[in-house]
Amino acid sequence: MAISIKSISSLAVFSGELLSNAGSVGAAVPSSRALARRIASFLPRDPTGLVIELGAGTGAVTEALIEHGLPLEKIVPVELNANMARHLRKRFPGLNVLGGDASKLGRLLAQHLPDGRPAVSHIVSSLPLRSLPVTVVARIIREVKRLLPPDGTFIQYTYHIGCRRYRPLDDFQRHATSLVWMNLPPARVDVFRVRR
Ligand SMILES: C[S@@+](CC[C@H](N)C(=O)[O-])C[C@H]1O[C@@H](n2cnc3c(N)ncnc32)[C@H](O)[C@@H]1O
Repeated sequence: MAISIKSISSLAVFSGELLSNAGSVGAAVPSSRALARRIASFLPRDPTGLVIELGAGTGAVTEALIEHGLPLEKIVPVELNANMARHLRKRFPGLNVLGGDASKLGRLLAQHLPDGRPAVSHIVSSLPLRSLPVTVVARIIREVKRLLPPDGTFIQYTYHIGCRRYRPLDDFQRHATSLVWMNLPPARVDVFRVRR
């Protein structure tokens, strides 16, 4: 397996931030290529609106979204940690990386994207929902529900692979699920739609 300078630099940034922000980083290592590709596989290649990536970290999933063939102008990574957001901008100069809090997603999009009120098609999340404060999770979920169109999907992975119910997502209906063993730890990708 070839290890590139890019992945060494991502790992260094990730590990550095993990030491000071364990709760919000929520994973020991970046997402594996297998996990990132599985997430991307659930998305259409030419969505009508934006694909928002919450908690983009050092860009493993972002890279898979690009390789999947999504147009660059439709991928919008959102990352709270300033060092990781800086790393993402360096790694993906063609993307509009938003540094900020997913719990204020609507405001972030309105402030930073050109036409102010862009349409969102899908939201992909690497956020460690189970280790974030419940009030923050509630705000994030509220934003996701508010911004997703009826046919839009919310894709989230979890390391709690045996546990199918997660109460904050009770307003969502799971319509696909997939286990990824090649990740540390193994993960389950869930694809949700908002119940209307
Ligand atoms: C599991 S890590 C990201 C994994 C990512 N797929 C990777 O491989 O680098 C979760 C990320 O969510 C970010 N995060 C946590 N809370 C956030 C929030 N409220 N808004 C945006 N990003 C947040 C963390 O800073 C961290 O980079």
